[in-house]
Amino acid sequence: MIHLHITSWILGLVLFFAAYYLHNSGSAKPFKIVHMILRVFYILIIISGVTVLLSVSVLNAEYIIKGLSGLWLIALMEMILVRLKKGKNVRGFWIQLIIALVLVLLLGWRLPLGVLHM
Ligand code: HEM
Repeated sequence: MIHLHITSWILGLVLFFAAYYLHNSGSAKPFKIVHMILRVFYILIIISGVTVLLSVSVLNAEYIIKGLSGLWLIALMEMILVRLKKGKNVRGFWIQLIIALVLVLLLGWRLPLGVLHM
């Protein structure tokens, strides 16, 4: 499951930045398609993350914060893309996204599963 989690969060981030780029280059239709695919990846990231979370024997605060910041990051990606589409201001959401991303990566790599501990 950790492999599915890693694959889906990496592809999810790539799709998010691709959608952002497509929006900026004015490609409305490709943007919509990539955004739809990204939404499937949100589900994969959440299912795999929650499954790994539930399989951990000692669930401490770090795991809970890791999971919550992952959910926060997904919410921010979605909010940024929806607000961009509507032409609304996204500056504050980008700042939050950077904070959430740093937190998720630091905690994810600090915790014992994943690529840095294989
Ligand atoms: C876009 C959102 C997310 C990103 C970028 C992300 C990133 C990561 C990273 C970098 C790792 C360490 C494994 C590795 O790749 O080497 C990891 C592990 C993990 N993630 Fe996520 N994650 C996200 C969402 C979630 C969600 C929504 C949950 C649960 C609700 C979750 C729960 C976990 C758990 C339990 C681990 C295992 C920690 C360990 O023991 O090492 N993640 N994630």
